[in-house]
Parts: sequence; structure tokens; C-alpha cells
Amino acid sequence: MGIRIDGKAVSAAFREKLKEDVARLTEQGMQPGLAVVIVGDDQASRVYVNNKKKACQQLGIYSEEYALPGETTEEELLELVNRLNNRSQIHGILVQLPLPRHIREKVVLEAIDPRKDVDAFHPQNVGRIMIGDYRFLPCTPAGILELIRSTGVPVEGKECVVIGRSNIVGKPMAMLMLHQNATVTICHSRTKNLAEVARRADILIVAIGKAKFVGADMVKPGALVIDVGMDRDENGKLCGDVDYEAVEPVAGYITPVPGGVGPMTISMLMKNTVTAAEMALEAAKGC
Ligand code: GUN
Repeated sequence: MGIRIDGKAVSAAFREKLKEDVARLTEQGMQPGLAVVIVGDDQASRVYVNNKKKACQQLGIYSEEYALPGETTEEELLELVNRLNNRSQIHGILVQLPLPRHIREKVVLEAIDPRKDVDAFHPQNVGRIMIGDYRFLPCTPAGILELIRSTGVPVEGKECVVIGRSNIVGKPMAMLMLHQNATVTICHSRTKNLAEVARRADILIVAIGKAKFVGADMVKPGALVIDVGMDRDENGKLCGDVDYEAVEPVAGYITPVPGGVGPMTISMLMKNTVTAAEMALEAAKGC
């Protein structure tokens, strides 16, 4: 029987600690500030943005929201990003993805000041993660690290298999596990004998976007299984990339969907905002 990793509980404990950091920075005249920009009326994005706003309120982080119409031009969006780059009250800038098709995501993400890039999507921050010299971590991989830490399972020397190679999750996740001295394998849609490779994993991280893709036959007994998926099953019910009912009896630890990785990501965004304010304070002090 696998132990269920409770993302809500880990996230709540993490936020309690963050609240103290926010209070300390605020006392020093550097209340962390986050700007969230959303373009168009994607419903899922709307929900995420509202949750971010609530998290800021809960922690005492100053927040601004910019809800722009779907017809906003790339130039207008870049102007806003530029203004936010120059605002001392704003330490973190998040442009909610996806953007409407007429706006080039890459151009917009690269326009964000890397010191305010709380998503860690800017190539400069991606490069820093590669060499292990980073302040911001992308929110989902950072949340997964906290979940693994909460189990007390040591990472060093373990076989870690990451299924999925996205820039947002799979690739940075693999790099972070490597920094912690795991032996890392990245699998993807063209991987041969995927089940066999996955079965080698002491730590299996699944971010492939296919409902219930990982069954019991792909999991080593006792493995720590992290499910990043947010999918719908055949009945339209929310589920992950891992078949929880089938895998739970085999796994040592397992994250549920919902209630596993999901609750962690916004907490990590808050953490990055706090880090950005700390960086601004260091810069102000000239250290
Ligand atoms: N849309 C869905 N997830 C994310 C995220 O982590 N960051 C941004 N900017 N947009 C998203």
C-alpha cells in the first residue's frame, strides 16, 4: 500500500513559513509584489489567475492583475511588460499562458526582466538552472521537489525516471534531480520499452498529459510516484497520468490527482515572488 502524499497539507505548511518571510520583508520596506497579466478569456486561465490573487492576499503579498482583451496587440502587451519591469513595487511578473495566437509567446517571455521572471521561463533563468546557479525554479518542478522532500526519501544515488520532456516540467525536473545526484532518465513518446525503463525507477515522475497512462506494470514495487497530469478520464472525471487505483498498491509513495502536485505550484510562485523581493532588497543594499 503506497503512502499518499498530501499536496494540500505540504502546501499549507509551506505557506505558513512563507507568510513569515513576507512579514519580515514588509517590515524592511520591501513588501513582495506580483503582477499577473492575462490576455483574452480562457476559462482555465481565469481560474488560475483568481487562485494566484487569493494566495497573494492570504500571504500579504501585494498583487496587481491586468486582464486585457483578446484583441490586445503584441506591442501593447510588450509596453505593459516594460512598464512593469520598471516598477519598483512589482518584483514578480507573470504573463499567463496560453496567449492568443497573434502574440508570440517567446517574444513576450523574453521581454520580462529575468530578475522578475517568477515563472523561470526566460532563457537566462533556464540556463541558470542548467548550470545549477539559480534563484528561481519553475513552479511545478519546484513543487515536486518539496513533495519529495516531505517524504524524507533521499534522492542521492536513486534511479529517477521522468516521463515527458516539456520545457516547463520534464526537462527542468530532470536537471533538478540530477543536481541532487539522482541517476536520471528522460522518457518520451518515442522511447522504446517505456514500461521496462519506468520499472527501473525508484522515483518516477510522470508529466506526459495522457489520462491514466502509467499502470501497475510500469512501477517498481516501493517506488515514489509523482503524477503531474491534469486529465479527464472516459467519464469526464479529473484524473492524472497515473492510474491511481492500480498503482497505489504497488507504490511506496504516490501523489493523488487532484490534491498532489496541483496545490504546490501556486505556493512555489509565491516563493519565487518572495525571492524576487529579497533580490531587490539585496540590490538596494548593494550586496
Ligand atoms: N498557464 C498554465 N500554467 C502556467 C504557468 O505555470 N505559468 C504561466 N505563465 N502560465 C501558465
